[in-house]
Amino acid sequence: MGNHPAPTVSGPARPPVDHRPTVGWQSGGVSRTPQGQRASLDKQPHEVAAMFDGVAARYDLTNTVLSFGQDRSWRRATRAALGLRPGERVLDVGAGTGVSTEELAHSGAYAVGADLSLGMLHAGKRTRPRVPLLAGDALRLPFADASFDAVTISFALRNVNDTNAALRELARVTRPGGRLVVCEFSTPVNPAFRTVYLSYLMRSLPAVARAVSSNPDAYVYLAESIRAWPDQSALAARIGAAGWGRVAWRNLTGGVVALHRAIRV
Ligand SMILES: C[S@@+](CC[C@H](N)C(=O)[O-])C[C@H]1O[C@@H](n2cnc3c(N)ncnc32)[C@H](O)[C@@H]1O
Repeated sequence: MGNHPAPTVSGPARPPVDHRPTVGWQSGGVSRTPQGQRASLDKQPHEVAAMFDGVAARYDLTNTVLSFGQDRSWRRATRAALGLRPGERVLDVGAGTGVSTEELAHSGAYAVGADLSLGMLHAGKRTRPRVPLLAGDALRLPFADASFDAVTISFALRNVNDTNAALRELARVTRPGGRLVVCEFSTPVNPAFRTVYLSYLMRSLPAVARAVSSNPDAYVYLAESIRAWPDQSALAARIGAAGWGRVAWRNLTGGVVALHRAIRV
């Protein structure tokens, strides 16, 4: 891996021009989800790491089963939203087994993943030996300021115990004008579908997880943490308050997942 990004080097400052398409992206609006309701779900970093150590062995399979195979299209959409160009440097935070990092590398950009769970990283080293993965906490990333052209975090921001601090830390390692894409579970927009989905989350998902996962309890936490997570506009507001501009989001699978994108100001 000769093109590993030098932690102290940043590219020349470029103006924050965003050439990515705007169709299908929205911004603004009023949130329906009160903030601060996830206190009972807060876990310390060592507890989060231990939880993911416990699911690492079958993480990729469990993900694909529980999402009915949708996870692959969500990852492709994340890569597209980042607008990566060959030779750019992109950091994937909360990379886990590197499944999200591997997808980014298809763009020709240099993609590196960081994660807190050594179990997830070891599983990734076994299954994806060519994907550069390293240990790192989203709240104290082991990179110098402005090291990356783009940063992303997939299905992991919800697990970091200080969302706002993580968003600020992502901004720190991104060059001015660089891009952020957050891929995270969100709130389905259609009320009828939302009811069905929430029932799947709270009843069926833990049952399916018992059949396929190496640590089903982690999937009870998953369901509860998704339910308590801010909706699209509330998360957009948090991103905008953490050093990012031009925040917009796009719903995937009817809002089961949302991509939030922003530009480093
Ligand atoms: C649900 S997995 C997502 C993995 C991968 N990004 C994907 O798309 O499948 C969440 C990951 O976030 C990691 N994580 C949680 N808190 C973290 C933190 N503070 N710093 C770095 N990684 C963290 C966990 O260890 C876990 O591997």
